[in-house]
Amino acid sequence: MLFADVVHSMNIAATVGSERLREIMAELVNITAAVVRRCGGTVDKFTGDGIMAVFGAPVAMEDHAVRACRAALGIQDATARLTAEVKHRDGIDLRLRVGLNSGQVIAGEVGSTSLGYTAIGEQVGMAQRMESVAPPGEVMVSASTARLVEDAVALGAAELVHIKGTDRAIHAQRLLSMSEERRPVGRAESKLVGRGREMSALEGLLDRALGGHGAVVEVVGEPGIGKSRLVREVAAMAAVRDVEVFSAFCESHTSQVPFHAVARLLRAATGVEGLDGQAARTRVRDQIPDADPEDVLLLDDLLGIADPITAIPAIDPDARRRRLAALLNAARLSRQRLAIYVVEDAHWIDEVSESMLTDFLIPQTPALVVVTYRPEYQGAFTRVAGAHTVALAPLSDSETAALVAHLLGPEPSVDALGRRVAERAAGNPFFAEELVRDLAERGVLQGEPGAYASAAEVSEVSVPATLQATIAARIDRLDPEAKHTLSAAAVIGSRFGLDLLTVLGVEPVTADLVAAQLVDQVEFSGQPEYVFHHPLIRAVAYEAQLKSDRAELHRRLAAAIEAREPESADQNAALIAEHLEAAGDLHAAYGWHMRAAAWATNRDIATARLSWGRAQKIADALPAEDPNRTAMRIAPRTMLCGTAWRVHVNVTGDRFDELRELCAAAGDKASLAIGMAGLVMDHAHQDRMREVSPLTSEAMALAESVGDATLTLGLSFPLIYGKIESAEWCEVLRWSQTVIDLADGDPSKGNFLVGCPLALAITTRGMARYWLGRPGWPEDLRDGQPMARGVDPASYAGVVGYTYLMGIPLGVLRPDDRALYEIEDALRIAERSSDDTVVGYIRAALALALMHRQKAAERDRGQKLGAEVGEVLLNQGRNLCDLPIIEVYLARERAIAGDRDDAIALMRSTVDHLFRTGRLLLWGLAATGVLVQTLLDRAGDGDAAEAEAAVERLAAAPADEGLVIREIWLLRLHALLTRARGDDSVYREYRDRHRDMAKTLGFEGHIAWAEAMP
Ligand SMILES: Nc1ncnc2c1ncn2[C@@H]1O[C@H](COP(=O)(O)OP(=O)(O)OP(=O)(O)O)[C@@H](O)[C@H]1O
Ligand SMILES: [Mg+2]
Repeated sequence: MLFADVVHSMNIAATVGSERLREIMAELVNITAAVVRRCGGTVDKFTGDGIMAVFGAPVAMEDHAVRACRAALGIQDATARLTAEVKHRDGIDLRLRVGLNSGQVIAGEVGSTSLGYTAIGEQVGMAQRMESVAPPGEVMVSASTARLVEDAVALGAAELVHIKGTDRAIHAQRLLSMSEERRPVGRAESKLVGRGREMSALEGLLDRALGGHGAVVEVVGEPGIGKSRLVREVAAMAAVRDVEVFSAFCESHTSQVPFHAVARLLRAATGVEGLDGQAARTRVRDQIPDADPEDVLLLDDLLGIADPITAIPAIDPDARRRRLAALLNAARLSRQRLAIYVVEDAHWIDEVSESMLTDFLIPQTPALVVVTYRPEYQGAFTRVAGAHTVALAPLSDSETAALVAHLLGPEPSVDALGRRVAERAAGNPFFAEELVRDLAERGVLQGEPGAYASAAEVSEVSVPATLQATIAARIDRLDPEAKHTLSAAAVIGSRFGLDLLTVLGVEPVTADLVAAQLVDQVEFSGQPEYVFHHPLIRAVAYEAQLKSDRAELHRRLAAAIEAREPESADQNAALIAEHLEAAGDLHAAYGWHMRAAAWATNRDIATARLSWGRAQKIADALPAEDPNRTAMRIAPRTMLCGTAWRVHVNVTGDRFDELRELCAAAGDKASLAIGMAGLVMDHAHQDRMREVSPLTSEAMALAESVGDATLTLGLSFPLIYGKIESAEWCEVLRWSQTVIDLADGDPSKGNFLVGCPLALAITTRGMARYWLGRPGWPEDLRDGQPMARGVDPASYAGVVGYTYLMGIPLGVLRPDDRALYEIEDALRIAERSSDDTVVGYIRAALALALMHRQKAAERDRGQKLGAEVGEVLLNQGRNLCDLPIIEVYLARERAIAGDRDDAIALMRSTVDHLFRTGRLLLWGLAATGVLVQTLLDRAGDGDAAEAEAAVERLAAAPADEGLVIREIWLLRLHALLTRARGDDSVYREYRDRHRDMAKTLGFEGHIAWAEAMP
């Protein structure tokens, strides 16, 4: 019986009037009735301000009780929307209490129209009492219901509640969620033997976790040794302590499906499993009511419950990760109760889940995290700092004997056989179980599990040699239909439903499989669902079938997955590709890998690269005569080369040479240009400047020769960047102008690599103009910003970063309040939407700006930030070409703090490095300036001479014509040198020329410096 009632309906009536109340109630009844029907119940009665529903008759079976629980939670979820609306419109809090009770009802009447109170008064009364003690918005279940559903749901602690009007206290428990633990209802477990030490270690960790000290436990061991069993035992300990357990199971066929494990775990933790899209989204929002709505959309997307009609905001994968990390952390910290998170079979985890879980979900977790894997796994979980490892060894001889004795029973006729089994199982409990099942199926053992007898002569009985062989023998013994069902199910995965089997063209026969304990039924209502009793059974069933049969099943399954959820085709692309590849349908698999990569590009670039890698492998293996082979080999390589710099690894070398060769053969200039642009970025980020300039010129020429404006625009940013870093300002000017002309005022034209090529080109034109002393630069620096801001956050950050990172140290701009405000604003925006590179870049700009301020506190902040940024760039191998300028200003702070000698050594080596790599005329200007000034301040032996030499070197560096920035810097530096030398009249001449030039050019930084000169 389910009883739902509106809290304080009388007060509500008084507030909104009876007319509106009727309206609200009608809506409420519709919603709840729909949920009840969906869960297989019958709405029996409307009680004026509530609803009464019945599940199952005549006897309350556990399945009915489970369904009633699902309905009760579903009602609370489904009414949340109405609640919000009513709150908004009528300003009242509409909340429901729901109560559940189970028991015998009168047969025949349930579901008919005339179910009278009197007939089942007692049960209804109890359900109603449960309802009356439920907190608003919650569900209470009676002891009888709790008993029936305790395996299938999460319940709160048992409480004694007092009911109005009686003084008898009764038992009740709060219904928390459906537990998606796959422990099947009523699964028979053998008695746990041994593992005492492991259990007490785990118990200790659980109790510590309850005391606020989280831990990560890794349970390692061979297949069948008892990892999952240990986890189930931990779950049982948790239940006693009222601790929730959330689990994610990795599977062999999902190891290539991105986000699989992490989504599973979070779906369990948020309780959205089994809810439809809208209900799931409501549920998530209820749990994190204060979260930023855009963050919640990202979470929806991760959980796979995003509303297909709501566009996911364009946010770089790095920013997604950053924001999800912060969101989940906040959600977890606000969580009152301890939880255990379980990741099972991590040897099959997908890469992005592995990195997300180990990077930000697990560190500093206040929870207990349990991970299981087999010994061959070497991934990131094995390196979690401070994790506890529980390595499961085989059971000892006496433990194995005890287990076998338990499986066989006390009858003396099985003793000898038992010894044989124990010896063969060699301490592997699953092997022992399977051997016993095998013997029972063969009739060697007679009777019931735990009470067998045997008439066989032990020496005559053959026993399979391995666990796999035992399972194979058992599968072999099945009827053809059952075997066929098992084979098809093995292709589907560890959990499967009858509907999908039917789609695969299999007439499902499951009774024998359940009876043989090869599979367990886990869902009884509506569509029955099953899971393999053990991953090894699935593996053997999978391997045992004919390759051609299996391929056919994979092919059908791929089609079925696509057909079943066409709106999720992109999300499922990796899985579909996997099945098609297993089906040997390589062309189709290639297409789906490429599609999976495109889907992942906005979510996790490393994941996208995995898919391109798979596609490349398929293409390479195609027969030479395949007409599409070359094009198919080029496409994924192009993307792999084009994006390599984004994952900060040096991977482009060989692959790029292959791409070059293939493109040359196919005459594909566009792909080569894209790949080359990626390589330019890679070289620049790795500070391989000598290679940047020629490659950039080549790529520019290629792009131009294709004659496609979109391509040229799209590639412009990396290529102009390459030219900036090579300090070729005439080229920067020429290209920026080309881009501005081609874009023809359209800010999003060519936006396939960066969101707004035009705004960036306007900014870089402004930079080239001030370097070359051409007019119009202030307008350029000003105009790029609003355009980028309206179109693309990363471009905006790029524009602001470029403007100030270079403009302030060079003395073109001043580090005034406005500059700081703009940089901080761009940083905030970048942190929400842009990749780590952009964020690092804009943080560097902020650090430099702060280190140019007067106030010590600001400079201090700048120095700390600069040190942090420098470290991150170094660690991640990013923006290394820009690192020297940060290092020089950090050294200057050191000098100011008094450590002048070390600081000068650092400056000297940085300036030398810039000289050697041909970049004196980029960062080398400001860097030489800092060095000279510091040397002159120290005024030790030889310092003046060294300063002079540095200035001469700068003056002699070969450069484009008309580099006015160098001219103005030389004036300033000569002024400093001559002043130090005490050469007054010459000094004054330089000082005045410097000031005049600064004024003519409008370089505000220089103007300020000039005015500060005595
Ligand atoms: N100590 C034990 N006492 C009794 N039975 C056990 C024990 N350990 C494991 N078993 C039983 O052995 C079977 C296999 O154990 P389990 O599924 O935990 O293996 P596993 O290590 O998780 O294997 P896999 O790596 O394949 O997942 C289960 O039926 C389990 O109940
Ligand atoms: Mg296991």
